Amino acid sequence: MEKFIVKGGTPLKGEVKISGAKNAAVAILPAALLIDGVCTIDNIPNISDIRLYIDILRSFGAKVEWTGQHEITLDTRNVCASDKSLELTRKFRASYYSLGSLLGRCKMAQVGIPGGCNLGARPIDLHIKGFEALGATVDVSHGKIVATADKLVGTSIYLDIPSVGATINVMLAAVLAKGTTIIDNPAKEPHIVDVANFLNTMGADIRGAGTDVIKIHGVKKLSGGKTYSVVPDQIEAGTFMLAAVATKGDITIKNCIPEHLESVTAKIIEMGGNIDDSKGDEIRVWCNQRPSKLTIKTLPYPGFPTDLQPQIGVVLSVADGTSIINESIWESRFQYTVELNKMGAQITAQGQTAIFEGVESLYGAPVYTTDLRAGAALIIAACMAQGTTEIYNLSHIDRGYENIEDKFRALGANIERVTE
Ligand code: EPZ
Repeated sequence: MEKFIVKGGTPLKGEVKISGAKNAAVAILPAALLIDGVCTIDNIPNISDIRLYIDILRSFGAKVEWTGQHEITLDTRNVCASDKSLELTRKFRASYYSLGSLLGRCKMAQVGIPGGCNLGARPIDLHIKGFEALGATVDVSHGKIVATADKLVGTSIYLDIPSVGATINVMLAAVLAKGTTIIDNPAKEPHIVDVANFLNTMGADIRGAGTDVIKIHGVKKLSGGKTYSVVPDQIEAGTFMLAAVATKGDITIKNCIPEHLESVTAKIIEMGGNIDDSKGDEIRVWCNQRPSKLTIKTLPYPGFPTDLQPQIGVVLSVADGTSIINESIWESRFQYTVELNKMGAQITAQGQTAIFEGVESLYGAPVYTTDLRAGAALIIAACMAQGTTEIYNLSHIDRGYENIEDKFRALGANIERVTE
């Protein structure tokens, strides 16, 4: 079993380069199943979720090779919905994007009912309603989801909730459908726009991604033959922004898109931190004072992202005064507060609200990662705390952050991965 040993108390200072976005890459890889040809995808983060997705794509018959440190070339001329993938697809959430792609390409798709981070109930009713509206029949039973269609025909689909997964899945299923599909109330996250840009580069006709309405004009075929570069990871960038505030450090975050982080920037300024994002592709964050208390509600983009809620929770655990976080996306995303309380925090979480009574400082303790972003939050907490923290269950962190300990170490953190 691996764990991190972190000796805390040092302000994090220096530069960090952000990798490609996990949540874009885990949708773009299966989106390539729609291509009757070859394509190359660059700026892919080398994380365990991506390595797993490569195995899943191979089980569908795709030829997938790493052609650079962060570059993958895919030959998806011969793919089919194989049941060899059922066990693999059960292992993580984003495997459900294969449903939309294979349904579109082969008119038949099946995946194991997907797992993923334990954040409470994670229904996929909106994905299924979207597929059915396009003309598919969907059966969920015996631990798998099977979608079939004689043909898919464009239609209007209103999403009750701007779900990231449902928006992408419907978009994927609609790319090769006959006629025009309109998605009303779609999610607008940067990775939605990135998936649409990738598909358009490969030959699709998708307009309006990132706005309130997405229109997908069905095309006969995606030919590929192009190279696409994945957008920088907004959540990884936000994680380091909050690490700078938490440790009263000074971090320049390179290769990021400041526009994607405006909600985070606003909260950092409100807490008394400083931001320079004038260069356009980097953000410098520094903080010389105890952060002020805050009230935050997580919301779909462009609101404050749920995937940065645990990281800002760490900052608020030592803020001056009492802060409140309302988690409006996931019903169970405060499990990390139990671990922070072991480090001296005073947080009371009930349902989707948590109250943070700011303490002067945290101290080191053994803590357990409960999900990906909770893991990142615990690393920040450990860097900020007095003494030594041991962080367990690193597989959650490795799913979504590339070389995380190297990046923290380059900023001055005393962090080591050891195998017990
Ligand atoms: C994506 O999950 C991300 N995962 C999550 O990131 C992220 O927290 C989430 O979007 C919100 O931003 C990936 O991109 C792989 P949703 P997703 O569908 O697509 C409800 C991380 O740490 N809902 O936007 O599963 C749902 O219960 C991960 O990187 C339905 O009710 O999220 C939730 O309350 C964790 N029915 C809300 O919508 C549905 O059919 C938003 O979920 C679908 C969703």
